[in-house]
Amino acid sequence: KPKDIQFKIIYTEKTKVGKTSLIMSLVSEEFPDEVPLRAEEITIPADVTPERVPTHIVDYSEAEQSDEQLYQEISKANVICIVYSVNNKKSIEKVSMVSLCAHNERLFCRVPLILVGNKSDLVEHSSMETILPIMNQYQDIETCVECSAKNLKNISELFYYAQKAVLHPTGPLYCPEEKE
Ligand code: GTP
Ligand code: MG
Repeated sequence: KPKDIQFKIIYTEKTKVGKTSLIMSLVSEEFPDEVPLRAEEITIPADVTPERVPTHIVDYSEAEQSDEQLYQEISKANVICIVYSVNNKKSIEKVSMVSLCAHNERLFCRVPLILVGNKSDLVEHSSMETILPIMNQYQDIETCVECSAKNLKNISELFYYAQKAVLHPTGPLYCPEEKE
């Protein structure tokens, strides 16, 4: 069992898919009206996490971070959330490119990926039809979830899935000796 979990939220497009809002909603249990470009790294203490492991949540901002910094963060991560916006077809299409890029940058270990479709409050239809072919294409994608930072739907579930992907992966993803 890892001592703690590096939980990265990344997305390499400029579109405002709601990465920072998701983190703030999880932490404060309410939707923030205004968010910075990038949230400070947050550590959730073990006793309030479902799996009892301290978990660091790391935001990513294309405006504030270089590609080099992104790759460094990816190499330290135990689980990566790739966030898209369910009301933006373009951001969904980009998901496959982003996961491919993350895949190539992981040098020694394969890290579980979670596809996160945010802003589910804005649409009536699920994006799963678009997402399923991508999921089938990349076996590193552990799971996908549609959520809303705005009405807090599936926010704590997302966090639980991320912990679970690290601690109880369905495939041979986690290599403890490389991630120490
Ligand atoms: P960058 O850091 O600029 O890449 O953006 P981001 O991905 O961190 O998105 P951010 O959290 O800044 O949110 C972008 C916009 O989307 C803001 O106006 C948020 O209020 C809005 N937003 C975020 N999540 C939701 C959601 O679940 N539903 C709705 N309706 N709006 C949301
Ligand atoms: Mg942001």
